[in-house]
Amino acid sequence: MKKLIAAVALALLSQPALAEEAAPEQARWSLAIHGGAGTLDPNAMTPEKRAAYEADLQRALDAGSKILSEGGDAMDAIKAAIIIMEDSPLFNAGKGAVFTWDGTNELDASIMDGRDRSAGAIAGVKTVRNPILLADTVRTQSEHVMLMGAGAEAFAVEKGFAVTPPEYFATEARREALERMKAEKLSSLDVDHKFGTVGAVALDMKGNLAAGTSTGGMTGKRWGRIGDAPVIGAGTYADNSACAVSATGWGEYFLRVGVAHEICARLRFLQATNWLSFDSPGEANAPDAEEIAATVQEAADAVMAEVADLGGDGGVILVTPEGHAIFSFNTTGMYRGRATSAGLNEVAIFGGEERASDTPDH
Ligand code: GLY
Repeated sequence: MKKLIAAVALALLSQPALAEEAAPEQARWSLAIHGGAGTLDPNAMTPEKRAAYEADLQRALDAGSKILSEGGDAMDAIKAAIIIMEDSPLFNAGKGAVFTWDGTNELDASIMDGRDRSAGAIAGVKTVRNPILLADTVRTQSEHVMLMGAGAEAFAVEKGFAVTPPEYFATEARREALERMKAEKLSSLDVDHKFGTVGAVALDMKGNLAAGTSTGGMTGKRWGRIGDAPVIGAGTYADNSACAVSATGWGEYFLRVGVAHEICARLRFLQATNWLSFDSPGEANAPDAEEIAATVQEAADAVMAEVADLGGDGGVILVTPEGHAIFSFNTTGMYRGRATSAGLNEVAIFGGEERASDTPDH
């Protein structure tokens, strides 16, 4: 008995010493953004065009990073990043959205808070400058998750949103794409080459995840067509226990695979079966950050491979509860960027342009 008491006392004495010696862990944050994926040809990308895309991606990344690095919320960071891309005519969201067959711009967006999985979405809206803000207002100020068309616009007016003239969203490049599509009897893929949807995912210092996505859909869309971007689970998903995902691509395929939820569900399953843990970094025999990043990358790549197997293409961005910022796409390029508390800060367009390591420790 004496021996047992002595052993317990020794163990108790050694615990506080260990705890005191351990350096306090630096709170982490992480942000990833995208401005669409697609068949991007490096030879067709002039230095001026590239610089313009990179500048707007960097502005979006900086706006979100500033909020996160100052201790702000993931939800605020993703909205700040997405608003900049919605306001840029370069991306297919907000200003610069593609045209429908009937020559209108119809906007879709969704947002999800990983803390409580509250979500908001809007579809087919024509007069709201920043659809991501309306989606968030659906989340916070209605008892619904998704509103569409005239109803969503009436809700926007009731909540104080200005009515933006539909002409604001129109750009010459997008109008020409519609005209060419009709004249040459092309599909929207032939004419778009890239999808241009925008999105952001973030982890804040409190450990909360958030995801949001905004788009004009696909050129020449008809009959009130809605893609994956405003559908929670397809284009957007966030759950503090697993990941935050935003997708860009051929919406019909992302809807059929349920891409964003599928990736998070796989990460939850890997945790439940002890193949993956976000809770034990630094513990003896626990996988290190690079091993965890590789497992998460594999899960995202496997879901994107399912999209490809069905005939679809596009990409996703995701962040994990540990701050891994990961991309997966089956196209030649994806407008994208990521920044973390560890000092990573980069934007990229074509495949393989980012730094080799994407773990939060590098
Ligand atoms: N991924 C956007 C859309 O298909 O509408």
